[in-house]
Amino acid sequence: MSETQKARMLEGLAPRPLMPGNPYLPMPARVREIITETATIKTLRVVLEGEGAMERFHFEPGQVAQLSVFGVGEATFVINSPPSQKDYLQFSIMEVGEVTHALHNLSVGEQIGVRAPLGNFFPYEELRGKNIFFIGGGIGMAPVRTIMLHVLEQAKDYGSISLLYGARTPKDMSYQYELDDWLNHRDLHCTLCVDKAPEDWPHREGMIPNVLKELAPSPDNSVAVLCGPPIMIKFTVEALLGLGFAAHDILTTLERRMKCGIGICGRCNVGSRYVCTDGPVFRCDDIQAYL
Ligand SMILES: Cc1cc2nc3c(=O)[nH]c(=O)nc-3n(C[C@H](O)[C@H](O)[C@H](O)COP(=O)(O)OP(=O)(O)OC[C@H]3O[C@@H](n4cnc5c(N)ncnc54)[C@H](O)[C@@H]3O)c2cc1C
Ligand code: FES
Repeated sequence: MSETQKARMLEGLAPRPLMPGNPYLPMPARVREIITETATIKTLRVVLEGEGAMERFHFEPGQVAQLSVFGVGEATFVINSPPSQKDYLQFSIMEVGEVTHALHNLSVGEQIGVRAPLGNFFPYEELRGKNIFFIGGGIGMAPVRTIMLHVLEQAKDYGSISLLYGARTPKDMSYQYELDDWLNHRDLHCTLCVDKAPEDWPHREGMIPNVLKELAPSPDNSVAVLCGPPIMIKFTVEALLGLGFAAHDILTTLERRMKCGIGICGRCNVGSRYVCTDGPVFRCDDIQAYL
């Protein structure tokens, strides 16, 4: 037994799930729409093929998919459309290497493979009645988008709902076509910030942790949900702890390279936890040592 498996048993973590059928077999899907978000990020809207396939497919906000480009490989992406969107599944993809390059070069109508849904999800039922402060940095806005839209659909069940979305420059902001809706949404307090602002930028200037300290959300009956690059998560968690948020009330997603996506290969471990089955959503008190 591997050291990770021993540590998992000692911590009482769930054994790997038994999945029906062949868990490595991707579902066929077709690209329906491509949106160029920024110089490095594209959004793909894809439709599962087969009669009733989209209606039968269920996922929870925060769950991920392994997308495969045939002949190239497979990589992990969060499904960033809300579960109520039954026409397509949306993925926002930053080009960093081979698979993401191939995904960026797809055309509308081309076929890809989808293994999903994988991983855990944001515990939105447990968060009912609480104030939720969403924080998205760069491509990290993708997982925040799915849970935020899901929560906004049931806004009356939650306290105040806020979003702080930051990017390097205005041109690095994804979902530009939705920002006005978010800024004017009656149930959302939305703040946008960029590290370096041009003169005509009407929103905040500054790094996310600093803008967060200026906004100073109250930790009372509140949870923070944040996703972004590792360095942003580290300093934003520090800022939230400084504002009085308990580590248990800070939820984040972790990225580790995945292979099997189903808790078998041991590739994605964070201590004794697997990002693919115990995550990608974690409460900070469980993973603080790894931030
Ligand atoms: C749970 C989860 C959710 C994710 N969601 C998204 C998403 O919604 N949108 C998105 O754009 N990306 C997301 N990613 C990251 C994405 O999976 C990687 O960028 C992708 O696998 C890179 O594949 P590639 O073949 O293009 O790059 P590779 O050729 O494999 O790598 C290129 C470079 O990126 C680095 N890299 C690759 N994968 C990772 C990783 N997981 N973490 C850190 N560095 C990495 C490599 O070290 C290398 O420097 C997610 C990852 C995980 C684990
Ligand atoms: S990707 Fe294989 S155990 Fe997580």
